[in-house]
Amino acid sequence: MVPHTVSEAQHSEIAKLAQAAAGQQVAARPVKVIRATQIFTPYWKTPVAITPGPQGGTNWQPSSYNPETHMFYVCAQSGVSGYTAHTQAPPARQGNVMPYTVGSALTIGGGFGSNAGTFTAVAATTGRIVWQKRWPEACYAGSTTTAGNLVFIGRNAGELQAYDARNGKLLWSFQTGAGANNAPTIFRRNGKEYVVFYAGGNSLAATPHGDNVWLFSLDGKLGPAPAPGPGEGTAHAGAAKMKNPNAPGAAAAGKPIFAQNCSTCHGATGQGGNGGPDLTSIPSAKNFQTVIDQVFNGGGGMPAFKGTLSEKEIRDVSTYVVQDITHGRVPKK
Ligand code: HEC
Repeated sequence: MVPHTVSEAQHSEIAKLAQAAAGQQVAARPVKVIRATQIFTPYWKTPVAITPGPQGGTNWQPSSYNPETHMFYVCAQSGVSGYTAHTQAPPARQGNVMPYTVGSALTIGGGFGSNAGTFTAVAATTGRIVWQKRWPEACYAGSTTTAGNLVFIGRNAGELQAYDARNGKLLWSFQTGAGANNAPTIFRRNGKEYVVFYAGGNSLAATPHGDNVWLFSLDGKLGPAPAPGPGEGTAHAGAAKMKNPNAPGAAAAGKPIFAQNCSTCHGATGQGGNGGPDLTSIPSAKNFQTVIDQVFNGGGGMPAFKGTLSEKEIRDVSTYVVQDITHGRVPKK
């Protein structure tokens, strides 16, 4: 579906992504060699780049199967990931949780908004590709196919599209006004067919946000929405402020909060891991107010923690970031 090797054509772009990705993991020594290789290839000190990374191939988005065409319709992407090996002592257990990626670190290069998406019809009986769309952006939506041989799929820039399920010919495209990162629901009522679709955008794919529910039928009269603006992560315009952002936090109390909420992306020591940047290399991550804002409101692919963490927890974890992680008090890997 998605090429499982880093192709020649992709190479220079991927080298750049992988350089940045793997470079975060070995900040102390510049990365000179990146091996572009296949998934499951063992790696050691030489960082490797593989595609697709853990963000896909296909991800949460449901594929659909059409018993008329005997095909699966699969939305996928080929973001690149950089991997390096690390020797690192396991962190202390926290209750039932032991956040630890054994002996390795990975960084997602392309992410969910990566620049190579595919929408593919796969013959169920042979596993072969029957037709495939290649898009300059990630495919990040669920497909739904009908008995009339249509297949619907949403696009990051807001279009909901219908293709001929047999040959991939584009038949219809409708601007929904927000990132079309969802799966259409199709139903019949009183003999009439309807498509219902929610366009809300997606923060991980950093597509335009919205709150648009559409109900389509063949005699519908409403026109498309205006094309939405540029995409956004989880930040919203006029983002809320914390009530008491200047009260001091406690780094020690912030440490377990970091392990449980932040280390999945930023790594156990804050030096980058799974999609989050190395905090020790971002100058603004030394600024308490910047960190507070980032944790409270999210943005740039990072989720907002308001509502998930209390204001006190946000102050504590931000204090831990500023006092310990970005000022070198957390032992490096
Ligand atoms: C789902 C992954 C993810 C999680 C979980 C996450 N982050 Fe982030 N974080 C990111 C990404 C991606 C960025 C880069 C944002 C950008 O480039 O604008 C980032 C940026 C940051 C920055 C840099 C802000 C700046 O501009 O200086 C800080 C500080 C930070 N995160 C702290 C945290 C803390 C503390 C937590 C836990 C409460 C956390 N992050 C949880 C992904 C994540």
